[in-house]
Amino acid sequence: MSGPVPVAQAPGIGDARGLFPATAGRAYFNTAAVGLASSRLAETYRAFIGEWAADGLDYTRGERAAGEARSAVARLIGADAADIALIPSVSAAAGLVAAQFGPAGPGESIVIGQREYSSNHYPWRLLAGRGYDVRQVPFRNGGLEPDDIARLVDGGTRLVAFSGVQSATGHRSDIAAISGVARAAGAIVFVDGSQLVGAIPVAGDLRHVDVLVAPDHKFLLNAGRGMGYCYLSPAAQARFTPVSAGWRAGAVPSDSFFGPAMNLSATASRFDSSISWLAAIGNQAALAVFDDFGAAAIYARNRELTASLRAALAGAGWDPAGLPGQNHSTIVSVPLGGHEAAPLLSALHGHGVICSARDGNLRLAVHFYNHEDDIDRLVTGLTSVPGGRQVN
Ligand SMILES: Cc1ncc(COP(=O)(O)O)c(C=O)c1O
Repeated sequence: MSGPVPVAQAPGIGDARGLFPATAGRAYFNTAAVGLASSRLAETYRAFIGEWAADGLDYTRGERAAGEARSAVARLIGADAADIALIPSVSAAAGLVAAQFGPAGPGESIVIGQREYSSNHYPWRLLAGRGYDVRQVPFRNGGLEPDDIARLVDGGTRLVAFSGVQSATGHRSDIAAISGVARAAGAIVFVDGSQLVGAIPVAGDLRHVDVLVAPDHKFLLNAGRGMGYCYLSPAAQARFTPVSAGWRAGAVPSDSFFGPAMNLSATASRFDSSISWLAAIGNQAALAVFDDFGAAAIYARNRELTASLRAALAGAGWDPAGLPGQNHSTIVSVPLGGHEAAPLLSALHGHGVICSARDGNLRLAVHFYNHEDDIDRLVTGLTSVPGGRQVN
């Protein structure tokens, strides 16, 4: 077998759920936690594990899959594959960048969000131990506003880190505006794209970013995890030193198993980690759906579904947190108000609705495999939960 199991015939985008078995009989609004598996992903994993058991693991196939996956994500974010490193997680990418910072000089600072997801928070907080003034920007409207960031950035600021889309609230950051503030001070722009990449277009913003990282398990649809993607601008690559280089960081990995020579890759792959071959096989299969439908069709469907979800929630008396339109994403959060999270989630689960509660919000995430039926099911579930309609 040389690649992912093909699908016989891709359905129209409106029927994409047919490719994702777990959508049957339930409304899945939990992609912000983990994405669903396509039939192709499941079949590809089964076939690969069968071959592994029968004949031994063909790791060269895993390596090829990793290369294909890197290229697929490059197409998705409008980057050159040579500018993407394969890394296991957001925290690992933040750790790579944090490791570039030596002891702080006088007045050197790092600017981050107060309620950021910890993988994009703790690595920067730890720089306080090297003397950096780690400044935390309070959230407004569930996220970071460029003006608030500007108040904490000055000529000593070395890095500004934020999420492209906030995990708990769905607040989409104004990447260009925040980058403008950061770059005017000469600071590195680090964007956590966990809730952005695969969900909404990012290519237009790439030039404003020095580092953009996305793990595989959410909108990139390999929930089993094991691989992630770290775009590094050419300037960032020139400035950074690899911190966990091994054979994969070599110019030709298969010729880089032993010293004494060290020919590091001239591309961002010198920042690669050794990756899970199984995850690479999964990533290649999972990402094929973006080429099947075309990313533009997926983003358009996501916009359409999100708008319908927002309208339906408001119509049912469960108003989403008020966010200016430019801050909308595929995550729609509804303040829990007087509702307790656990019984609400369990009541919804009873109606076949799968979602999460995060930071005082009911969090509903849409991806292209959702359907208008799912929204109907959600509204039915919400109108029958104990406590009835929420009055905001
Ligand atoms: C905004 C955000 N960043 C990062 C992560 C994951 O971080 P890591 O890859 O370090 O596990 C998540 C969720 O898993 C997230 O929602």
